[in-house]
Parts: sequence; structure tokens; C-alpha cells
Amino acid sequence: MFIDSLKDIYWAEKALVKALPKMAKNASTPNLIDGLNNHTTETEEQIARLEQVFTIIGKKAVAKKCEAMDGLLKEGQDIMESTEPGAVRDAGIIAASQKIEHYEIATYGTLCAFAKTLGMDDVADILHTTLEEEKQADITLTEAAYNTINFDAADADDSEME
Ligand SMILES: [Fe+2]
Ligand SMILES: [Fe+2]
Repeated sequence: MFIDSLKDIYWAEKALVKALPKMAKNASTPNLIDGLNNHTTETEEQIARLEQVFTIIGKKAVAKKCEAMDGLLKEGQDIMESTEPGAVRDAGIIAASQKIEHYEIATYGTLCAFAKTLGMDDVADILHTTLEEEKQADITLTEAAYNTINFDAADADDSEME
């Protein structure tokens, strides 16, 4: 199950590294764009870390389609297609990205626990580094939302109703 979960998150990270730049391109607020771009770089490192884990456990790095990430990315895509560029779209991008980060936090939390249970402390440490990055990415997104975006989005919604 550990190896299966690794293959699953490996697929998810590879899909995400392609999706994040698209989200950044669709975003308008500078701190959101920066946050998404930073996390793209981190995601590249996370992919390399997973490859390191596959090497340590002596398995080939194989990606297995992650239906959950596929669904979350489709949801993000739908939001971008159904909104105009600006604060409302940014709020939607944050909402979609936070669902993604929470999925990753859950997955890496489980993977860390599996690795420890299996007595692979070195592997658990590597996965833990990624887990902390995912938590920080989630915090960055929350800050971007509180800093301005959600208030601007609420204003934009109000003016649409006038
Ligand atoms: Fe990730
Ligand atoms: Fe992430």
C-alpha cells in the first residue's frame, strides 16, 4: 500500500507541476501569482524527492493516475473557465488550490506514518520535508486570501448585484 500511495502522489505532483503555472497565468493579484510560482518550484523539488524515495526503496519511479488530484484539478479548471480575470477568479483559484494542498497534506501525513511504521526513518524524513512545504503553501494561500483578494471579490460581487 505504501508503494501504491507513492505512485499515486507521484502522478499527482507531476500533474500539479503542469497545472500551477496555468493557475498563476490566470491569477491577477501579485502575491497570489508569486505564491503559485514559488510552489511550482517547490513541486519540482517534491517530484525529485519522490524519485529519491523510489531509489532508496529499490523501486522504479512509476506514476499511477490519481483520480482525486485529477478531479481537484478539473474543479480548478472549471472555476477559471467560468470567471472573468480579477478578484473573483483569484478567490476561486485560492479555493481550488487549498483543496489541493489539503489533499497533499493528508497524503504526505499518511506516507510519513507508513514509512515510520515500516522502519524507514530516512524515507519518513524526506517525506516530512515535503509535508512541511505543503503546510506552508496552504498558509501562504490563506494569507493571500485574507490580505486583499476575498475582500475585493466581495466588492466585485456587490457591484454585480447593483
Ligand atoms: Fe506537492
Ligand atoms: Fe502542494
